[in-house]
Amino acid sequence: MQHESILVVDFGGQYNQLIARRVRDLHVYAEVVPYSTALEKIREVQPKGIIFTGGPNSVFDPASPQADPDLYKMGIPVLGICYGAQLIAHQLGGTVETAPVSEYGKTILRKQEESPMMREISGESIVWMSHTDYIAVPPEGFRITADTEHCPVAVMEAPERQIYAVQFHPEVTHSVEGQQILSNFVFGVCGCSGDWQMASFVDASIEKIRETVGEGRALCALSGGVDSSVAAVLMSRAIGKQLTCVFVDHGLLRKNEGDEVEAVFGPEGSYDLNFIRVNAQDRFYEKLKGVTEPEEKRKIIGEEFIRVFEEEAKKIGAVDFLVQGTIYPDVIESGLGKSATIKSHHNVGGLPDYVDFREIIEPLRMLFKDEVRQVGRELGIPEYLVSRQPFPGPGLGIRIVGDVTPEKIRMVQEADWIFREEVAKAVAVWKQKWREAAEDALTSGAALKADRYLRRAESRPEWLPDQYFAALSNMRSVGVMGDFRTYDYAVVLRAVSTSDFMTADAVQFPWELLNQVTSRIINEVRGVNRVLYDCTSKPPGTIELE
Ligand code: XMP
Repeated sequence: MQHESILVVDFGGQYNQLIARRVRDLHVYAEVVPYSTALEKIREVQPKGIIFTGGPNSVFDPASPQADPDLYKMGIPVLGICYGAQLIAHQLGGTVETAPVSEYGKTILRKQEESPMMREISGESIVWMSHTDYIAVPPEGFRITADTEHCPVAVMEAPERQIYAVQFHPEVTHSVEGQQILSNFVFGVCGCSGDWQMASFVDASIEKIRETVGEGRALCALSGGVDSSVAAVLMSRAIGKQLTCVFVDHGLLRKNEGDEVEAVFGPEGSYDLNFIRVNAQDRFYEKLKGVTEPEEKRKIIGEEFIRVFEEEAKKIGAVDFLVQGTIYPDVIESGLGKSATIKSHHNVGGLPDYVDFREIIEPLRMLFKDEVRQVGRELGIPEYLVSRQPFPGPGLGIRIVGDVTPEKIRMVQEADWIFREEVAKAVAVWKQKWREAAEDALTSGAALKADRYLRRAESRPEWLPDQYFAALSNMRSVGVMGDFRTYDYAVVLRAVSTSDFMTADAVQFPWELLNQVTSRIINEVRGVNRVLYDCTSKPPGTIELE
């Protein structure tokens, strides 16, 4: 797959993935590599440009990560961000100093002159700063093209050498014109044309999969989640019946989910693949009986999953390829040695030891989640599957605090169903409101306004969470229903906004919506007499309760 690329050289910044994602939003392929990547490797990739990320270090620390000075002489444009900017200044003879106090948060960037990086940037523009060191004097040959009140060199540029540096973070959405800055670099400076398109990715992948698999057979563990679904459909497009998908229903899925997966991928569905559904609910429930410790529950579910999958694989016999829905963030996190260890995430990563296969195929390993969804749409997968929220491998097992019983699973499934139904209704009402406003505006001749309202209707409400679900607490409390005392469980509603799932904020839902969900849950879900809303952000909380 030949396409232009930008290399994002990682100096340990928390936004390394975000930079690559933003560049890909511009339809330019971007890949994250560690700062220690050898120059020969970089040469092999022939990137159109290189971006240095930020990082937690100070250039004054002798142990801080450095760039190979020869990199500046390769004739490839370089853009440094935050630490990356300071590093450029430091390595090329400028002066970096340490400020008495850190500059953190929204800051006004003041444009000094027109330049390649400042093209189409306003005279004053809000940017996001997060630094203590700053560039006091740029290296020779650099021009200062923007500053801020506390930062004399917020943007510096040496177009003759094709080296650029910005002290702020253009990749975060708080930097209002950040995407324009990245676009200026990627298109204006590096001359990219924007050839990274999901439609051509699909065509190229299908060709490559056919070449790799030949006449062989492939096996795919299908969970019904976005990644494994898209991987399965892509594989099926390429090799049809040479693919077998095994869907293990562990009985810890959301309401109706098992049947939904079967309806799409099973014999009645739209794909020409071999589909095996294993209804293993009872086995999982049996193993989970009386187990309350979260990590133990995860391990039991993970191990049992492997065992069931292994048994099915044995029935199928040796296969040539095992398909996994690994996506790029997993690759970056494991490749750069930074995977989180707060919870032992269960996914199909543990399978290879147990299944007789020759090779692994990971058709989505270079894609971000948004791109996986886009590929799903290109492949015609139903929208409700493509836009599905993340769902943990251990499923409702970790959304029920304490021991897991079929009765509790029913309660959490029903509560969660109601929650999702009410949110969907509220979104529909919100969209309708904007459409009506657009019509009114049009009637009164305000075409521009109407257009703005229509675009609003196409977008999503600001309160719509990136992930939301119902969980079941282990708490029982007293209530009164009709004339009777109740002593029942409390459902916890969780709704967060997040861009990377590493940090998250609780969403401020409209109160009427919470009221409506609460009232329906109490009235419709037997065994539940109280609904609580979880206001905890992450950190210190995690998104799931266990
Ligand atoms: P936490 O609870 O760690 O969740 O804040 C962060 C994101 O990861 C999802 N999650 C999991 N996904 N296997 C998965 O595949 C797991 O064991 C698992 N645990 C949490 C969670 O839903 C959230 O999106």
